[in-house]
Amino acid sequence: MSAVYNYAPGPAMLPPAVLEEVRRDLAEPLPVSVLETGHRTDWFDEIAARSQANLRRLLDVPDDYAVLFLPGGARAQYAAVPLNLGAEDADYFNTGHWSVCAMDEAARYTRVHAAAEIADHDGLLTLPPPAQWSNSRRPAYRHYVGNETLTGFAFAADRHLDDGLLVADLTSNFLTAPVDVSRHRVIYAGAQKNAGIAGLAIVIVARETFGAARAETPSLYNYELQDKMDSRFNTPPVFSWYVCDRVLEWTRREGGVREMQRRAAQRAAALYDCIDASALYANPVAPQSRSATNVFFRLRPPQLESRFLREAGDQGLLGLRGHRATGGIRASLYNGMPPQGAAVLAEFMRDFEKRA
Ligand SMILES: Cc1ncc(COP(=O)(O)O)c(C=O)c1O
Repeated sequence: MSAVYNYAPGPAMLPPAVLEEVRRDLAEPLPVSVLETGHRTDWFDEIAARSQANLRRLLDVPDDYAVLFLPGGARAQYAAVPLNLGAEDADYFNTGHWSVCAMDEAARYTRVHAAAEIADHDGLLTLPPPAQWSNSRRPAYRHYVGNETLTGFAFAADRHLDDGLLVADLTSNFLTAPVDVSRHRVIYAGAQKNAGIAGLAIVIVARETFGAARAETPSLYNYELQDKMDSRFNTPPVFSWYVCDRVLEWTRREGGVREMQRRAAQRAAALYDCIDASALYANPVAPQSRSATNVFFRLRPPQLESRFLREAGDQGLLGLRGHRATGGIRASLYNGMPPQGAAVLAEFMRDFEKRA
């Protein structure tokens, strides 16, 4: 069989060069392996300092923001955000599945207002224009999901809102495009898509929010405390953080976030061009909101989808099944996906359509 490509939504494909480094580091103890080395060693101090510095450089993070590496993935932040920001009211943009998960969790701690909601217009998922967004009177923050991983609906709220109150879940588009950090109170992302493997979330938080946390905020998720403790209040997920450090180094070496953005646009275009030229495939997202990292499509008729998945799998094209909530097909094309990964899939799709 030829090369295998993994289009899974996360955990996802790592850059092959990073995987090679990890293999080498595991095989060469220093003097003990990376799986057995402590988080208060010189070795780990270097990892913590380098990953912090690289992330700051990659996203141009202002000095008055803390960069934290926390356990628990992105979902833990759905609770940590309202708790740390001491929110009584918060506005949430609802662009899909992960927005709803964030709203449901936040509603346990704060009054959640819907700022705008995605809707189906003529078969295309669309967010109402800014003039139709509603704000609550004094929200502690305005939350959005930068990229809805299930449907591939992208939303760069920081292009529209500059009151400094934004909070962003960027889990599935982190490091794939520049973001204006100064417009946000908090940005967070699970590492397992564009920044490493599962078990770690990166949190960028404005230090001016410190002091607002509710008394019941768990110490482990108290941003101010974790900033003071260099994200090592407890034993952090050492191996996940180490892999994240390797991925950040790779991202910097490869040309940084602008280069990642260029590659992502190229990969996504290979698939959207194929979908738009086809009578078999259909993408349900308004063109201006199409994701560069998760390309979702259905087949007409949908009965062909199981054959599509089976034949793709036979050719080494893996992880294409859509989320159980949506069905359909989804190709996740994160930073670790080589350009030929998109080209090979587009080729398969064209060939499948001829035979279908
Ligand atoms: C946009 C988004 N937010 C949050 C999550 C949940 O992340 P975690 O499993 O790290 O909690 C995911 C997982 O796929 C996601 O895609």
